[in-house]
Amino acid sequence: MRILLINGPNLNTLGSREPEIYGTATLADIERIVADRAASLGAEIRAFQANGEGELIDWLQREQPEADGLIINAGAFTHTSLALRDAVAAVAFPVIEVHISNVWKREEIRHHSLLSPVVAGAIVGLGAHGYELAIEALVRMLKRNDWPSLPRHAT
Ligand code: DQA
Repeated sequence: MRILLINGPNLNTLGSREPEIYGTATLADIERIVADRAASLGAEIRAFQANGEGELIDWLQREQPEADGLIINAGAFTHTSLALRDAVAAVAFPVIEVHISNVWKREEIRHHSLLSPVVAGAIVGLGAHGYELAIEALVRMLKRNDWPSLPRHAT
């Protein structure tokens, strides 16, 4: 079972970036924790971070034929990128959206996710632990071959 882990813009600076909002775990810490948890569940992680929209889309398109699931924190592209949403909507496997911070408690622009309508589920506001919960949920869905899919026309 191969799970893709995508982190979008500015998440490479986790650890020092607004720690009062995002905590002190670095992206390397998060990737290691997710990989360890995945291994204990019999899954393998392929992780990628980029600050550019096109790089994220290129990587997802390249990796998706060999993948079974995706965990994505698209950072600010969550709220802005129709292109990334289209790329995510095109994959045939379950996707879990993660946000470290509770976006609902923050500025209104963060209340709208272009990704949420095309993912199986989202984990928001639980800090870096959200990624670990995401891998657990994803592996469970894949083992049961059962995940929520929403109508593609949903907005
Ligand atoms: C974020 C929330 C986004 O609004 C923000 O732009 C980020 C991080 C989060 O993990 O809480 O870069 O996705």
